[in-house]
Amino acid sequence: MGKRFDSWAEVDLGAIQHNIHEISRYAGKPVIAIIKANAYGHGMIPVAKAALAAGCPFLAVARFSEALQLRLAGITAPVLVLGLISPSDVEQAAREKIRGTLFSWKQLQAYEAALAPLAYSGSKLPVHVKVDIGMGRLGLQAEEALPFLQRALQSPALDVEGLFSHFSKADMLEDSATDQQFSRFDQLVREADQNGIRPKFVHLANSAGAIFHSNICKYDLVRGGIAIYGLDPSDTAVLPEGFRPALSWKAGITSIKTVRAGQEISYCGRYQVKQDHARIGVAAVGYADGMCRRLGNFMMVHGKKVPVLGTVCMDQCMIDLNDVPQAQVGDEAVLIGFQEGSRISAEELGESWGTINYDVVCGIASRVQRIYQPETL
Ligand SMILES: Cc1ncc(COP(=O)(O)O)c(C=O)c1O
Repeated sequence: MGKRFDSWAEVDLGAIQHNIHEISRYAGKPVIAIIKANAYGHGMIPVAKAALAAGCPFLAVARFSEALQLRLAGITAPVLVLGLISPSDVEQAAREKIRGTLFSWKQLQAYEAALAPLAYSGSKLPVHVKVDIGMGRLGLQAEEALPFLQRALQSPALDVEGLFSHFSKADMLEDSATDQQFSRFDQLVREADQNGIRPKFVHLANSAGAIFHSNICKYDLVRGGIAIYGLDPSDTAVLPEGFRPALSWKAGITSIKTVRAGQEISYCGRYQVKQDHARIGVAAVGYADGMCRRLGNFMMVHGKKVPVLGTVCMDQCMIDLNDVPQAQVGDEAVLIGFQEGSRISAEELGESWGTINYDVVCGIASRVQRIYQPETL
């Protein structure tokens, strides 16, 4: 690769496949690959293909538009939309065999009305019924889930293919909530079973659930998100040895100059150079690429961590190269990744921004070209 004077991300698809196998090994179950939000910033279509090649039987996204993008890319594998599909889109969803998440009585009625035109063809919308066991987000209360399932199973418009829920604290390893949430869900699964109801796919665990609570991974599938990218579910739920981070984020150095003490750097002069002969570099990455605009950023040049000086601009930022005399224009500055034996992780960057690794990688802008290794799978 020639020298680059912009910002880019390198994505190791082999690492993603390896991580999927690791999750599956911990859970003892196949993995639904969670590839919403552009596969947590890693690039949805290449990650989808890599996940399917690694044996994932299912993909899941947040939005109907994301599921359609997969279909447009020729991906015919089962796709579950975890968010709400609008009733105005369910006919198309049914035709594309896109699975919807079903979580309320009103939604059920609206879907039946919207799908009435399909009734004559016998085709149905496959749905996974979602139950709320403690997240307080989408989902039926556990008490109403059984009558709801019984009603949905009678529907001429819906094919109840799945039943699922989502942990709210699986990454808080000291907290007993996950066991309680599991019990709530398991009781429902058993009650449904006693009533002759057992959807084809029952799934509960996310990454932290699958890896750190593998004793409760007794259903058909687990849903792997953050861990398939080799990133830690939280600062306490740190991935065990063997997982590999898949993404590096880099920028080219476009200028290096020597300035005098007192020189102000960047908008509003929030940084003033302290010494004469200071070497100031410019890295081609800014807040329009997904960097946080707050002060106190850092990156790595020749394996050495260097501070970002002053305000981050839209497309560039200035870095202190005094301690890296060998740095030249065209060298790589690393925001996330390994370089010459050192590393900045997405977790470390997230912490410095007052946020989490999920937020950092999801926020890497679309103009940051993703470069895949291997190039094709
Ligand atoms: C319903 C659902 N399942 C699974 C996941 C994946 O979670 P994680 O990335 O922690 O594995 C998410 C992520 O937000 C989710 O919303």
